[in-house]
Amino acid sequence: MSKIIAASKNRHKIKEIEAITRQFGMEIIPRDEAGVPDVEIEEDGTTFEENSYKKAYGIMKLCGAITIADDSGLEVDCLDGAPGVFSARFAGEDGNDQANNDKLKALIKEVPYEQRTGRFVSVITMVFPDGETVTARGEVEGHLVLEERGANGFGYDPLFVPLGYDITFGEFEPEDKNKISHRANALVTLKQKLEARQSAGKAYQV
Ligand code: IMP
Repeated sequence: MSKIIAASKNRHKIKEIEAITRQFGMEIIPRDEAGVPDVEIEEDGTTFEENSYKKAYGIMKLCGAITIADDSGLEVDCLDGAPGVFSARFAGEDGNDQANNDKLKALIKEVPYEQRTGRFVSVITMVFPDGETVTARGEVEGHLVLEERGANGFGYDPLFVPLGYDITFGEFEPEDKNKISHRANALVTLKQKLEARQSAGKAYQV
């Protein structure tokens, strides 16, 4: 089983990444458990791809091992794609889910349900110690509701109803979210890219 360092400090994301990648035979080690110094990697990119790469490369440089990073967020169509890369700090303070949800609800409250569309996006980057990079993007489309529903998940989950369902990600069982989420889609694509890389003769383990 390959050991991979997770660049994220968000325990919700790590839990999801661990659960999904365990099925692929990967073992994810959170960066704090791997003894990586507690430095902040500035997320000043304008795309999920840029920020995901910055996090993965920055942590790989500190630990010298294969590192995986997720940069993710919610794009809302009637807000021209906001909060996008600013999802974690939409209301100002980094990672204040309640304040972010309150701001989102206030901005979309006059918009009819059919137009309250959007998607979660996750860009996963894996960086190898030689600097080689494998990137994968995953998305899940859905609608936004105006009142939080469900206590599972994190972030905007209680406001997001994925297409084809009538419950929010906050009401999904974690294992069901992990089958259809943006993060799952990105990780499945990552796995396919790693398999292609492996069949081209490249080692997967450090
Ligand atoms: P990041 O750490 O900069 O990638 O910020 C990601 C932010 O996007 C989180 O703080 C959440 O607000 C939001 N987000 C990303 N993925 C999810 C998800 O699976 N559910 C709910 N919110 C998410």
